[in-house]
Amino acid sequence: HQAQLDVDPDFRLASVPDRIFGSFAEHLGRCIYTGIYEPGHPKADCNGYRTDVMELVRELGVTAIRYPGGNFVSGYRWQDGIGPRNQRPRRLDLAWHSTETNEFGLHEMVEWLKRLGGNELMEAVNLGTQGTQEALDLLEYSNIPSGTVLSDLRRRNGSEDPFDIHMWCLGNEMDGPWQLGHRDAADYARTAAMAAAAMRQMDPDVELVVCGSSSHSMPTFGDWERTVLERTYEQVDFISSHAYYHPVDGDMDSFLASGEDMGAFIREVAAVIDATRAKLKSDHQVAISFDEWNVWYQDSEPSRTPEGIGNWPQAPRLLEDVYSLADAVVFGDLLITLLKHADRVRSASLAQLVNVIAPIMTEPGGPAWRQTTFYPFSSTARLSKGGNVVESHMNSDFYETARYGDVPDLDSVAVSQDDGSLSIFVANRSRSRPYDLTLRLPAWACSGYSRIEAQTLHDDDIQASNTLEAQDRVLPHPNTTARLTASGSQASIHLPPVSWSAIRLS
Ligand code: AHR
Repeated sequence: HQAQLDVDPDFRLASVPDRIFGSFAEHLGRCIYTGIYEPGHPKADCNGYRTDVMELVRELGVTAIRYPGGNFVSGYRWQDGIGPRNQRPRRLDLAWHSTETNEFGLHEMVEWLKRLGGNELMEAVNLGTQGTQEALDLLEYSNIPSGTVLSDLRRRNGSEDPFDIHMWCLGNEMDGPWQLGHRDAADYARTAAMAAAAMRQMDPDVELVVCGSSSHSMPTFGDWERTVLERTYEQVDFISSHAYYHPVDGDMDSFLASGEDMGAFIREVAAVIDATRAKLKSDHQVAISFDEWNVWYQDSEPSRTPEGIGNWPQAPRLLEDVYSLADAVVFGDLLITLLKHADRVRSASLAQLVNVIAPIMTEPGGPAWRQTTFYPFSSTARLSKGGNVVESHMNSDFYETARYGDVPDLDSVAVSQDDGSLSIFVANRSRSRPYDLTLRLPAWACSGYSRIEAQTLHDDDIQASNTLEAQDRVLPHPNTTARLTASGSQASIHLPPVSWSAIRLS
């Protein structure tokens, strides 16, 4: 099959925000304990941080980290995670039916991010079982330099300098009946508006994320956004969206087209933002923080929480999904979708980072390795950061899906850099059609590219995955079919069915 992609590298649509390559580390299962932090592991540093994991996180290219949850945050007392480790309380984590030792808390996360390379912390406050006062206390502890009870407590706990946290989530998934402190939109909006106004009174520079919907299919979706935004619009900078995908009843064709749902979700939230802005006659612009997204097999075994009044395990194996090649293609397409909407999505967090629905897996005392989904993320982050999404039009065949009707086989986005290089990311979502893609650049726009490099993630077995025993079973390979014409204005490449490719022209 033949397809054409027309790209205009000079027609910029949106800058690529660094924060779009954020991730998420929740106190859940083994994300923190035996993931990020494992004192006694042969590769742990003096703080107990696993250096093998840190290296992989750097290679992945994630920017901001959302912390400490997730559902966990809605029952979390942040004060439990500070001060001498041996005096920190053991608590029940109701969200994941586990025991939280609090060995790892805010200081440990701040230090980990510093060692990682200065990545930004996106901190969530508990608006489930706590409220404005606790949020203010946490803000004072974190951002006030000194001279008050809580800022001086931080200094005594070892951090002379304030943490300077700019981005704050006003709770987590408050629209979800599973959430501790779940409430209706009007009730949450009042709580969030109050917390936001108070936090700004203390630190006018904070950027605030109000909770949107925890999925596109929530019965309250749309109305929730409208109610919450109408009551908080001037106080907040972002509204969150969350989305997870998996094949429903084995319907692979719809699953491979999950990007269609994410795209519609983003456009609909953007429409509610615009309608609210118009109604309130506001000059303020609220953006979308897509701060949980991934493939997640929510109904299967690793996601079942422990049960029983006496059974609260410590760092159990939860949500340890093993991702296939097909999952990675969907994942890569979700990233393409986020970038295509970078004018509205100014922050996003891959949920999550280590062990828990994660691109990086570890064994306690053992190795760390990359899941299939690691590769689309690392390539897209490496090639897109600092660039601009530019105009492009794909022309491919369509295939039929039960969920989304007819969808294009190929989905793509193009990103240009100031050094003149151009990167194109393409997902071939068709299960049957390989493509010969021709890339066409306007003659006037190309000062003549002289080099083309491409990597393709594909496997004849679309269920192939990377595991402890076979850590490199699925890898991206150089795509040697990529060609550039002599004038540098056209390129071509072969794209196998169910594949994800990154192409770079320079
Ligand atoms: O990422 C796993 C969970 O998914 C988070 O805790 C919650 O916010 C969402 O429902």
